[in-house]
Amino acid sequence: MKDIQNQQLKSYNTFMVSALCDRFVQVEEDGEIPRLWEEGIFGRPYLVLGGGSNILFTQDFHGTIIQMCTRGIVVIEEDTNSALVEVAAGVDWADFVDFCIRNHYYGVENLIGIPGRVGSSPVQNIGAYGVEVKDVIDSVIGFRISSQKPFALRNEECAFGYRSSIFKTEWKNDVLITRVRFRLSKIPHFTLTYQALSKELENRKLELTLENIAALVKSIRDAKLPDITKIGCAGSFFKNPVVDISVRDRLVEQVPQLVSYPAGEGKVKLAAGQLIDLAGMKGVREGDAGVYPLQALVIVNYGNASGTEICNFYQKIQKEVFNRFGIFIEPEVNIE
Ligand code: EPU
Repeated sequence: MKDIQNQQLKSYNTFMVSALCDRFVQVEEDGEIPRLWEEGIFGRPYLVLGGGSNILFTQDFHGTIIQMCTRGIVVIEEDTNSALVEVAAGVDWADFVDFCIRNHYYGVENLIGIPGRVGSSPVQNIGAYGVEVKDVIDSVIGFRISSQKPFALRNEECAFGYRSSIFKTEWKNDVLITRVRFRLSKIPHFTLTYQALSKELENRKLELTLENIAALVKSIRDAKLPDITKIGCAGSFFKNPVVDISVRDRLVEQVPQLVSYPAGEGKVKLAAGQLIDLAGMKGVREGDAGVYPLQALVIVNYGNASGTEICNFYQKIQKEVFNRFGIFIEPEVNIE
C-alpha cells in the first residue's frame, strides 16, 4: 500500500486540473483493505478514485483519496459457449478489453477506448455504441464501507440504468469495489444497432470479426473524441437528458432535426451534444476551458484551466441550453 501526504492530483485526473488531497492511499492488494479501517481512514472525508476519468476537482480534497491499484485477470469458468472472467478493480479498462479481444471473448469490443479502470465500470454503467457494461457483468464484489462487510451483488441486484447503478444511488460512497466478474460469449455475436457503427461497417466493407469491430469503434471514437493523454477532458461531460415524449414533440416543432431515442415507456433520450451544438456552444472557448469542436458533449481543458473555471463554464452551457430549449442537462462527471 502506498500512503502519501499532500498529494498533487493533477496526474490522477484526466481533466488535468490541480488539486491537493491530505492523504493519498493506493491499495495494491486486496489483503491491505482491512488496514483502511484500522487506520481510521473512513472516519474522515474519503473518496474512492478509479482512473480519474470521470471527476472534476474544483477544490483541494481535505481527506483521503483511495485508489484501487490491484491487478489480475482470471478466467474462473469456461465452456464452449462462454467464459466467466474475474478482473481486479485496478486493471485498466483498456487492458481488459485487449485481453478479451486476444482470447476471442465477445461482448466488450464496442466499449474499446473508454478510459478508466475496471472497478469503476459498474458504478456509472459505462456504455458506448449500443452496449453497456451491464450487458456483460455477472457480479460485482467488494466491501461496504459502513459495515466493513464483504458483498457480492449479482447483476440484477445492481440496479443498473443509463449511466447509473446502486453504487451511484442507494450505496453511494459506501463501497469499495474489489473485483468485477464478467460473463463473455465465445460464440461470435456483435451489437451493430448503433447507426454510426453499422454505416461505417458497410462503407468500409469490412468482414465481421472481433478485431475489425474493435478497430472500427476505435477509429469512430478517435475521430470525434479527444485523446485524453494529450488534452484534459473526462469524456462526455453531460448525460443525455431523458424527457417525456410530449416535451420532445414540442421541441421538434422548433428543431425538426432533433435526435431522440426510445428510453422506456412515454420517455425519450435526447442528445445533449446536439442541444449544446444547436445552442451555439460547440467549439466555444473561455480561457483554457472549452467545448470540444468535434463533439459538443465534451468539455476540454486546453492547458491551465482550474476546476472552478471548468465548473463555471459548464454551468454557463447548462444555462444556454436551458434558456434555448427549456431542458436541464446534468453532468455525468462527478464534481468534487
Ligand atoms: N450531435 C450533434 N452535435 C455534437 C454532438 C452530437 O449534433 O456536437 C448529435 C449527433 O449527430 C448524433 C447525436 O447527437 O445524432 C448523438 O451523438 P453521438 O452518437 O456522438 O453520441 P452521444 O450521445 O453524443 C453517447 C455517449 C458516449 C458514447 C457515444 C457513442 C453519453 C453521455 N455519451 O454520446 O459516451 O461514446 O454515445 O455510443 O451517453 C462517455 O460517456 O464519456 C462517452 C463518450
